[in-house]
Amino acid sequence: MATLELKNLHVALEDGTPIVNGVDLTVSSGEVHAIMGPNGSGKSTLAYAIAGHPAYQVTGGQIVLDGVDITEAGADERAQGGLFLAFQYPHAIPGVTVTNFLRQALNAVRKARNGGVDDPMPVPEFRKLFLAKMDDLKVSRELASRYLNDGFSGGEKKRVEILQMAMLRPRIAVLDETDSGLDIDALKVVAEGVQQLVGPEMGALVITHYNRILKYIKPDFVHVFVDGKIVEQGGAELAEKLEVSGYEEWEKEGVTA
Ligand SMILES: Nc1ncnc2c1ncn2[C@@H]1O[C@H](COP(=O)(O)OP(=O)(O)OP(=O)(O)O)[C@@H](O)[C@H]1O
Ligand SMILES: [Mg+2]
Repeated sequence: MATLELKNLHVALEDGTPIVNGVDLTVSSGEVHAIMGPNGSGKSTLAYAIAGHPAYQVTGGQIVLDGVDITEAGADERAQGGLFLAFQYPHAIPGVTVTNFLRQALNAVRKARNGGVDDPMPVPEFRKLFLAKMDDLKVSRELASRYLNDGFSGGEKKRVEILQMAMLRPRIAVLDETDSGLDIDALKVVAEGVQQLVGPEMGALVITHYNRILKYIKPDFVHVFVDGKIVEQGGAELAEKLEVSGYEEWEKEGVTA
């Protein structure tokens, strides 16, 4: 059982510009929370702050994982604690193959879970797991020996992000627009891959613009995010309503407030 709590979280850019203005949100294992909101409202900034990206400063409030305040923890420490962020724009790492990257990431997490003592997964076991997960997520085996994200298509990057998640088995996963750039078949494969991991061992925070991914990853809660704040919460039906009516009613409120 894992719980991520955001308590009155405020986040600013390096130059001090406030972007996230007081978010209260609790995500527990077994739950899927969707965040939907207009471009530039601060969704990715919120995701980066949760993951511990150094360019985003928490200026108020707390991030708490399983009762432990991780607001000041490094990104590595958070990952080892079971947090995972699938990026909206995954970066390339030329010179590091997908296989090597995943093996190192997995072994770093295993070491942390083993009280800081090295506990690398034996290579045959790693290979078996890796191939099985690649097949599950319909990731081409040819990608395994290529440099991470280097020249990958948009959809290939997203699939490899979810492959990484499936290998690392995080406890709380934050998915930032994992659906963008996926073709219809890939969307289904990737979304079902995520849905399979959601359960007693994992909860998910899914940032998306479209209801379509939520047909495969059933949200328990939908949060509307405007101007750095959650302005409305509801169930899956709220995502359907947004698809029709957009964000105008809240944006207007923001202007008059
Ligand atoms: N590193 C950065 N440097 C400068 N501005 C930034 C940086 N990161 C975010 N911003 C600004 O902060 C605001 C919020 O950006 P963010 O990426 O969080 O929005 P978003 O809700 O994820 O939008 P989208 O739906 O388009 O992905 C934007 O105005 C953006 O330009
Ligand atoms: Mg974004």
